[in-house]
Amino acid sequence: MDEKSVVTAYRRLSRQYDRFFGPVFEQGREVAVRKMECRAGDRVLEVGVGTGLSLDHYADDVEVVGIDVSPEMLEYAKARVNGNADRISLALMDAQALEYADNSFDKVVAMYVVSVAPDPKKVVEEMKRVCKPGGDLFIVNHFSQGKGAMASLERMVSPLSKLVGFRPSFPLDDFLEMADLDVVETRPVNAFGYWTFIHARNKAG
Ligand SMILES: C[S@@+](CC[C@H](N)C(=O)[O-])C[C@H]1O[C@@H](n2cnc3c(N)ncnc32)[C@H](O)[C@@H]1O
Repeated sequence: MDEKSVVTAYRRLSRQYDRFFGPVFEQGREVAVRKMECRAGDRVLEVGVGTGLSLDHYADDVEVVGIDVSPEMLEYAKARVNGNADRISLALMDAQALEYADNSFDKVVAMYVVSVAPDPKKVVEEMKRVCKPGGDLFIVNHFSQGKGAMASLERMVSPLSKLVGFRPSFPLDDFLEMADLDVVETRPVNAFGYWTFIHARNKAG
């Protein structure tokens, strides 16, 4: 999908998003935020924050900045900020052209976003640029396997994937090679381990 199509798709999807994709993706969100092991005062950027379903998982002493390209998704996220505007902020922004200076965040996370954005390589490059050297990058996404039982599952889940604009073919090895990440850990998350959590350390300089 190009960016205009992403914005249009999520304008249509925003009202129903939490109902359909709240529970399905929840374990991955919970694992990602727990694995971030945020310390008091950490500054976190969440790319493609959507309706803000992850926001409740962060501790009260962490600063979270959430960006998204969809104004409608962000409207729902705003309602989740509630009385926490002193430590959670939201902005309408393209993950492929982040409006933050280099080395601005301790941790940068993208949940279910890299295969929706038109240029996943650019998204990861921007995540790395705004993350401090030695900081942490976290990605949750579905990566295609295309063989065995997983291939059948991929066929079954593909209408759901299409709905959220996921790329149908996005192998993990290709992604890791393209993203050039210093991987600390990968682990399967969500139903059937169909999605993958990735933790990488941001390379210095
Ligand atoms: C599948 S939803 C995931 C939302 C949220 N992270 C979650 O856990 O439910 C994908 C989100 O990525 C956003 N998105 C897609 N491309 C983007 C881009 N280039 N820049 C910023 N956000 C983008 C969409 O608007 C949507 O809110």
